[in-house]
Amino acid sequence: METDNRIDIQICLGSSCFSRGNKHLVKVVENYLNENSLRHLVYFHGAHCFSSCDRGPLIHIDGKEYTGLNEDKVLAILDGIFGKSTSNV
Ligand code: FES
Repeated sequence: METDNRIDIQICLGSSCFSRGNKHLVKVVENYLNENSLRHLVYFHGAHCFSSCDRGPLIHIDGKEYTGLNEDKVLAILDGIFGKSTSNV
């Protein structure tokens, strides 16, 4: 799918990832994008199971898989991508 120049963030909403943390991480990512006025730079959407449930909860960002996520890890990843140097995680 063509996503122009935006960063493609796919959060796995399969039952395993969803119940193990991504239900909450959807809100974490949305809040981050809104608070930092980044929505126009990102195509953020849910995805079906990536068949890597044992490594979840996970998110794909521009095709790269980030596994074993929790709120702190997701925020650190987003800070890394968007160049924030705040290390208060
Ligand atoms: S539910 Fe997320 S990889 Fe299977």
